[in-house]
Amino acid sequence: MAEQRAVPPISPTSPAVSALRWEEPPEGPVLVLLDQTRLPAEEAELTCTDVPALVEAIRTLAVRGAPALGLAGAYGVALAAARGFDVAEAAELLVGARPTAVNLAYGVGRAMDSYRRAVESGADVEKAAEAALAAARALHREDAEASALMAEHGRMLLAELLPGGGCRILTHCNTGALVSGGSGTALAVAAAVHRTGRLRRLWVDETRPLFQGARLTTYEASRAGMPYTLLTDNAAGSLFAAGEVDAVLIGADRIAADGSVANKVGSYPLAVLARYHHVPFIVVAPCSTVDLHTPTGAAIEIEQRPGHEVTELVVPGLRSGTGPGGGVPLAALGTQAYNPAFDVVPPELLTAIVTEQGVVSPVTADAVARMCAIARTG
Ligand code: MRU
Repeated sequence: MAEQRAVPPISPTSPAVSALRWEEPPEGPVLVLLDQTRLPAEEAELTCTDVPALVEAIRTLAVRGAPALGLAGAYGVALAAARGFDVAEAAELLVGARPTAVNLAYGVGRAMDSYRRAVESGADVEKAAEAALAAARALHREDAEASALMAEHGRMLLAELLPGGGCRILTHCNTGALVSGGSGTALAVAAAVHRTGRLRRLWVDETRPLFQGARLTTYEASRAGMPYTLLTDNAAGSLFAAGEVDAVLIGADRIAADGSVANKVGSYPLAVLARYHHVPFIVVAPCSTVDLHTPTGAAIEIEQRPGHEVTELVVPGLRSGTGPGGGVPLAALGTQAYNPAFDVVPPELLTAIVTEQGVVSPVTADAVARMCAIARTG
């Protein structure tokens, strides 16, 4: 079950938002999400008391973005264990909620491994649930630490690539504190550049069809006091042509072994534009987003979302229109829509991948494997 509750408004200058938190009220443990479908109009929380509610929250993007999906998956296993649900079934439901962001399966796997180890060593139900929760909390801490490290590595990389004055960064989708246990990925780098006074402008792609850039990145950028401007996705070309973009920074949902990057649909055309205009194109993602079991970009499963997200103006969570999907109709009734949630940027279009371990550049299969080996052996 999920219960919705409005929270007092956060002041525009208050510290970073938090996408999710674990709570233990007397009625039993819950996972509390900042409901991202309601932002920026409303800061409301969604309290999940069971895994089906959490799965629905993941599908509807109440919680979203690769690292946050990993945390939701890990806490979801802990929730199932603590509430006495079938943990293996819960894990399967969670992993199946969204297919592209590998962090979801990674987070579920981390909590499941701890849970299973506890059971195998004779722990009772309660202790096994505690082990799953400890794994989720550890992942949460690691994610916050990774954010801080990526922000610093990315900031230094930009200082090296663009010496001299300030820089104008174009970003796509939302990659800040809303997607992470810390300050995020690409947006965390932009925020770090801003803190050093070098951010001349953050160009924010609105990110059709669900407007993560318009709704969420502007929300975070304005709270951080960044100089930012919103543009429609298809205005990006004219911005490059006018020489107004110094670097593109995006996150990733899955990085294949060959260095291909799946990220929010619209990332690939930006990479092509960046190459044509000789602008650095940088991906910022933790090592948990790298999936060495997926050999190439073509092997990454791309989530296909319902057509009504394109044929209707849908603000997720707000069902206010008259179209069959609950939105305001934008196309003739019965129009078919192509609506992949992600696209894939091939490694040859990447300037660098920034992880918590450092910078991979040029992006090759060997360099990605080396980075992962360092991350996995510590
Ligand atoms: O569909 P979403 O909103 O979950 O997509 C999110 C993105 O594409 C982000 O860019 C990606 O998860 C990287 S965030 C670290």
